[in-house]
Amino acid sequence: MRSAEVLPGLLDTPKSVASKFLYDSRGSRLFDEICGLEDYYPARVESGILSRYAEEIGGRLGRDVRLIEPGAGTGWKTEILLDHLEAPAEWVPIDVSRAALDQAARRIAGRFPFLPIRPVWGDFARSMALPRGRGRRGVVFFPGSTLGNFHPWEAVDLLRSFARAAGPGGAALVGVDLKKEPEIIERAYNDRDGVTAEFNLNLLRRLNRELGADFQPRAFRHRAFYDETRGRIEMHLVAGSPQRVRLDGHLIAFERGESVRTEVAYKYEPEEFARLCEAAGLEIERRWSDDRDWFGLFLCVPRGP
Ligand code: SAH
Ligand code: TRP
Repeated sequence: MRSAEVLPGLLDTPKSVASKFLYDSRGSRLFDEICGLEDYYPARVESGILSRYAEEIGGRLGRDVRLIEPGAGTGWKTEILLDHLEAPAEWVPIDVSRAALDQAARRIAGRFPFLPIRPVWGDFARSMALPRGRGRRGVVFFPGSTLGNFHPWEAVDLLRSFARAAGPGGAALVGVDLKKEPEIIERAYNDRDGVTAEFNLNLLRRLNRELGADFQPRAFRHRAFYDETRGRIEMHLVAGSPQRVRLDGHLIAFERGESVRTEVAYKYEPEEFARLCEAAGLEIERRWSDDRDWFGLFLCVPRGP
């Protein structure tokens, strides 16, 4: 992380920091912990769908797949999918978190010793330029509702770049958290165990450690709320009292109650997601969901003529 990547957002009004910076090694560990929480339904529901339909999904994707996974994290969902893929050609995880990437590579190498693994450390939104690979068919696996952490217009660009990365005849398997009662969504980002709060506050510790800033993490509190008109969660760090923070020679001032936005998480209706796909030149070939339709796993392919 460089100060030039966060300073403009911190000096702006309202303040924001890109959510990818939440994931240093402690952030990645805390995120995995969030995935195990009762309140954080997306991970549980999505992995349930994946396990339940793994055979069908594997059959649809076919054999000799080149599996490309942006934001792979520690790769625990990958394992479920790989278990049901026939002779996959290689796995290409992409992540900004070095720690997560290393852990993912170790995990998958341990379980699938003959699968070539080609980790890419970097920002998948900046570039999906990947090493030349092998395999019959490129498939971009994008679970975790990470797509929701981008604004819809960015999400369209991302989907388009995935289609390009997958190549001719390729596909994208995308996990999308669907709209539901706001209370359920809000609870997922305000878990009772306070792990999400810790995950959010960890960003300030990281800014202190890596950029020499002097945030007082205890002076900030975690806040996440669902904005129903925009259909998105916003996550903030709110200053409980006026703050003056130094970062790389700049002064960042917070009034009491002022916040920095650290994440957005859009929720979609299946039709809304279909429109994003369409704008990106894709169409939905198949959707797998849970019984309550809380989460969708969508198989997207290039739209025919
Ligand atoms: N796919 C995993 C992890 C999801 S959390 C799951 O479903 O559980 C999001 C992951 O994407 C984190 O590992 C984070 O480090 C990574 N990430 C977020 N934004 C990124 C970006 N712009 N470029 C690369 N990796 C990113
Ligand atoms: N992609 C995940 C989501 O939008 C990321 C996430 C879950 C997250 N919980 C979080 C990010 C808490 C920051 C804080 O659900």
